[in-house]
Amino acid sequence: MKKSFKDYVVYQIYPRSFMDTNDDGIGDIKGIISKLDYVKHLGVDVIWLSPVYASPNYDNGYDISNYLEINPEYGTMDDMELLIEEAQKRDLKIIMDLVINHTSSEHEWFKKSMYINSEYRDYYIWRDKPNNWTSFFGGKAWDKIGDSYYLHMFAKEQPDLNWQNPKIMEEVQNVMKFWLDKGVFGFRCDVINIIFKSSLEDGKKRLILTGFEYYHQQDGMHEILKRLRNEVLSLYDTFTVGETVFVTPKEANDLIYPEKTELDMVFSFAHMETDQINNKWFRTKFKPKKFIKVISKWQNEVYWNANYFENHDQQRIVSRFANEKYRVYSAKMFATMLIGLKGTPYIYQGQEIGMTNGDFKDMSEFRDVETFNVYKLAKKIGIPKKLRFKMMLKSSRDNNRTPMQWDSTGGFSHGIPWLKQNKNTASINVLDQLNKEDSILNYYIKMIELRKTYKALIYGDFKFISMKRDVFVFARTYEKQKMIIICNMTDKNRKFNATFSKGKLIIANTYATKNILKPYEARLYLIGE
Ligand code: NOJ
Repeated sequence: MKKSFKDYVVYQIYPRSFMDTNDDGIGDIKGIISKLDYVKHLGVDVIWLSPVYASPNYDNGYDISNYLEINPEYGTMDDMELLIEEAQKRDLKIIMDLVINHTSSEHEWFKKSMYINSEYRDYYIWRDKPNNWTSFFGGKAWDKIGDSYYLHMFAKEQPDLNWQNPKIMEEVQNVMKFWLDKGVFGFRCDVINIIFKSSLEDGKKRLILTGFEYYHQQDGMHEILKRLRNEVLSLYDTFTVGETVFVTPKEANDLIYPEKTELDMVFSFAHMETDQINNKWFRTKFKPKKFIKVISKWQNEVYWNANYFENHDQQRIVSRFANEKYRVYSAKMFATMLIGLKGTPYIYQGQEIGMTNGDFKDMSEFRDVETFNVYKLAKKIGIPKKLRFKMMLKSSRDNNRTPMQWDSTGGFSHGIPWLKQNKNTASINVLDQLNKEDSILNYYIKMIELRKTYKALIYGDFKFISMKRDVFVFARTYEKQKMIIICNMTDKNRKFNATFSKGKLIIANTYATKNILKPYEARLYLIGE
């Protein structure tokens, strides 16, 4: 049977931090090629490659200055073609990031668009006066060049494209065809549910994202996605996942039901917001119940989920939703949950070895534009220095961008890494875990294998069973096969109702007694065949 997006397990590579082969401290495409056997060994099917396009790197490649060229820091177009070819040889597929809400301010289109009479003027959103919208990276969403203002929903170096202009559709379709013709398997579509601005009126004043009602999930976005699907993607064998901010299950379904012909699945944020107050810079204690409720709601209501606990914008799950003291158990518990849930699992580089947040000592060690922007803003509103730094330590995206830990000395680069390598690479690294039967890495590999062995783990229904005392129990059932997944999300022993555990124990991250779960213990039972 031909595989569909439901069958895949996806591994995300953040090229800048994956593997450096020319000793400049920056990961590169040749580095990715050198690690393809490792990626294959994990058992995954698809690689999501964060941007490798030409870019001045204000936002690490999410500011593209040429969609048809490779950033020389990462290599050449020949390298990229070789990567696609070598991946294909190993039956690995590659999806690329499609960043079409904005370009870099150094893109030729934008440079030409600065001239009022240029045919490129309407590629972007220019006005004589700004409205009151605020940007995702904090502060105003408008900047001035000459006498005019342009809209940027992210950094000022990332001007928003004007999707009211039909030329943008044509340009983007050409970009997509260019990469699909090269053998790329599809796209992860960056902030896709904000690309269409239906009006530029002043928005209702909000603590964050004033203007939201005029660009979030607008009808025009659905029209765009249908056209991209019907006029381009459907001509190839593809896979798409959209990054969608602030979506409800209903809004997600409106994007992914097959009859909508828009996207295959979307990343939502609701479960990642369960330890936040209003926005990610204000964190509260992680409460497993809140998390379990959100996860279960999405499992029940959404046609097909894109499941993830980490990516290049988040923090390490063992540091964030668990207790680092129990790093090994909690990493495996989250692996059991991630791969046990209904939907396509996404694993972010380093997650498979239980990497932790960065060990940054002061602001000079950060690199992320968002971190600096928000730090400045926090200063402006009077948040004391110590607290500001603490906020950054907790929520900076750099936490997940530290170099991949290949061996006890790092193994990422012979040069000085662009972002500080975690010291704990001495004890948390791939080489060590490949050799240890009971490592987090080998646990991921086993879980991925199990997903391929038991149909219930892919096609099974989801049924919430219980969350008493923060032990999440759910079932996946397909025909006569039933899997029961049990995750203790606390750092305490938990008494456990043994009726859940009738059946055959298929995998566990530890096991002492039938009726007591140890901290972060996870088990998977099979009932039936
Ligand atoms: C979402 C990406 O994941 C993030 O890294 C980026 O900064 C913004 N979109 C803007 O492109």
